[in-house]
Amino acid sequence: MRQVPPSSMIEIQITAPGGPDVLQPHSTPTPQAGPGELLVRVEAAGVNRPDVLQRAGHYPVPPGASPIPGLEVAGTVAALGQGVRGFALGDAVCGLTNGGGYAQYCVIPAGQVLPVPKGLSWRQAAAIPETFFTVWANLFDMGHAGKRDTVLIHGGSSGIGTTALMLCREFGIRAFATAGNAEKCDAIRALGGYPINYRETSFVESVLEQTDGRGVDVILDIMGGSYFNDNLAALALDGRLLIIGFLGGAVAREANLAAIAHKRAHVTGSTMRRRTAAEKAAIADLLRTHVWPVLAEGRCLPIIHAVYPLERAADAHRAMEAGQHIGKLVLEISH
Ligand SMILES: NC(=O)c1ccc[n+]([C@@H]2O[C@H](COP(=O)([O-])OP(=O)(O)OC[C@H]3O[C@@H](n4cnc5c(N)ncnc54)[C@H](OP(=O)(O)O)[C@@H]3O)[C@@H](O)[C@H]2O)c1
Repeated sequence: MRQVPPSSMIEIQITAPGGPDVLQPHSTPTPQAGPGELLVRVEAAGVNRPDVLQRAGHYPVPPGASPIPGLEVAGTVAALGQGVRGFALGDAVCGLTNGGGYAQYCVIPAGQVLPVPKGLSWRQAAAIPETFFTVWANLFDMGHAGKRDTVLIHGGSSGIGTTALMLCREFGIRAFATAGNAEKCDAIRALGGYPINYRETSFVESVLEQTDGRGVDVILDIMGGSYFNDNLAALALDGRLLIIGFLGGAVAREANLAAIAHKRAHVTGSTMRRRTAAEKAAIADLLRTHVWPVLAEGRCLPIIHAVYPLERAADAHRAMEAGQHIGKLVLEISH
């Protein structure tokens, strides 16, 4: 028998901008699905670097979005908002939220929800949406990465990086990836990528050497300002630079604009959370067509580094900030 959602639930609040300790469990009324939305009874929620940035006060919540952290969940459909088609109560789903994933229940626009691919656990399904939506939208949609291209992925062991590497391997694309230690380089190699330890080698020199001086066609960059000039130097003619993170700052000092012209480079970027519901739904459709069948066959499954109970979300954030993880961190929710 299906359960009626309880009137109250536990969520993790950011009590004030700050360190992991500001993440506190809190009892609150269970949200209700509005028109076009689903209420999901959450079994697991993914942890992503943007959650850490939001907690620290460096990632303002877009207008109208939940201030509760958590950009991806997996669970069962607990209620359907007006006008929602294609889902039934009890369906096993995973979705890209607009926030609010660190909770027992979460409301998500139906267009951002997909079925749990066959054979995947809650943990695996919860670890998919944020990085798969982001990598697809940037590397494949905006960056047009294809079989003839070579790609450079910064942060190859990150949630984003491991997803990008697996999808490159799946679609026959040669990928280089940077990482800061030997263990992470081994992980990149195991995912079919060519690792570059950026603490020991210049990634520009390494990429140019491996491509006979040509450079790479597409770069997926999470560093921003600190890598801007080097990224242009590593780019091939007509190359595409996709900036999706700013771990090295949002300002490029002494940016070499001439290199953009000489290389006919396309420099762009995006943030998933700011996209409209219609844009996110369009990306969901592309993933359903191109990637969901691959996941259902057991390939490109997310790499899960560690799992924490929801109440220990602060420990998951400490682990992410320590930066030793390879792949994803996940929260498991009890009811
Ligand atoms: N734009 C969007 O829509 C969007 C969506 C999701 C995530 N993001 C961004 O994507 C990035 C990764 O997110 P995530 O959740 O996957 O985080 P994560 O798993 O914590 O990964 C962060 C990575 O940064 C790497 N790193 C740090 N300094 C580096 C350097 N100098 N060169 C290369 N790598 C370096 C770390 O690896 P090492 O130990 O090897 O340095 C680590 O793998 C974050 O910047 C996040 O904000 C953007």
